[in-house]
Amino acid sequence: MRAVLITVIFLQLCVGLECVIELPNAVKKCHFGDTKCIKETANNLIRRYPKGISSIGLKPLDVVHVKDTVLVNDPPVGNAWYHFELVNQINYGFENVTITEVHGFDEDPTSSKIEIKGIIPRLVYKGNYIAKGRMLWMVNINSTGDSESEFFNFFFEFSLKVQTEYRNNKRYLKIYQLVPNVGLDRWIMWLDNFFPDNSDLTILINKIFNANWVEFWNELEKPILEIFTSVFLSIIQNTLENVAYDDMFLSNKYIKEL
Ligand SMILES: *[C@@H]1O[C@H](CO)[C@@H](O)[C@H](O)[C@H]1NC(C)=O
Ligand SMILES: *[C@@H]1O[C@H](CO)[C@@H](O)[C@H](O)[C@H]1NC(C)=O
Repeated sequence: MRAVLITVIFLQLCVGLECVIELPNAVKKCHFGDTKCIKETANNLIRRYPKGISSIGLKPLDVVHVKDTVLVNDPPVGNAWYHFELVNQINYGFENVTITEVHGFDEDPTSSKIEIKGIIPRLVYKGNYIAKGRMLWMVNINSTGDSESEFFNFFFEFSLKVQTEYRNNKRYLKIYQLVPNVGLDRWIMWLDNFFPDNSDLTILINKIFNANWVEFWNELEKPILEIFTSVFLSIIQNTLENVAYDDMFLSNKYIKEL
């Protein structure tokens, strides 16, 4: 709480005094478009600051709160319908991401496609679920409990379209389109208390899920992708808002003049 207050007050002062919010000195700056350097710097930054950098608005990577999400929402009619909601979810594991490929980030960031690829060895979502429904064998489902999902070797690819916005004669980056693509090696899930009166059935349903995770993934990839994308944006968006694009990189101009 105190850190948040200090950051807010600092940012207010900065708006008033037009001061410059800079990346920490420990972060090695790269030239625009030097994607090899940018990739290394990004990985160093992630390793060094798993708890984020509050002075520039970089959110913690190790613990990310996720907005409540309805994953399945059938209308409650007939013999088989299902409503499944994830609430109070926290995302763990982003701090272990390795950025594997970066494209773009040129002096004019709109001149080429920006792409970021990475892999997370183990991505975990922990929280509570709410399930309602009726299954084929006419079992009514009405349960809530703890949920835990683990995604192994979760890889992602983000294609970004950006605009620049001028403030105090400096350019700030605004993402206006993000196309994500993800994949994984394995998904393991546990829903506690799924059949509150029958723990054997709860174990069985979890076993069925885990044996058929690929089918569930194919069904649920789209909403999960949305969750993951919002986690990614929530981590970086404030930083792009606070740190000017021109202050993130070294200009190439003098290289060209030499
Ligand atoms: C991230 O890596 C650390 C160090 O290897 C490990 O202790 C931690 O469990 C990992 N996080 C997740 C969510 O797997
Ligand atoms: C579902 O469970 C909740 C709490 O356990 C209960 O209040 C509610 O009446 C139940 N709904 C149905 C349709 O059985």
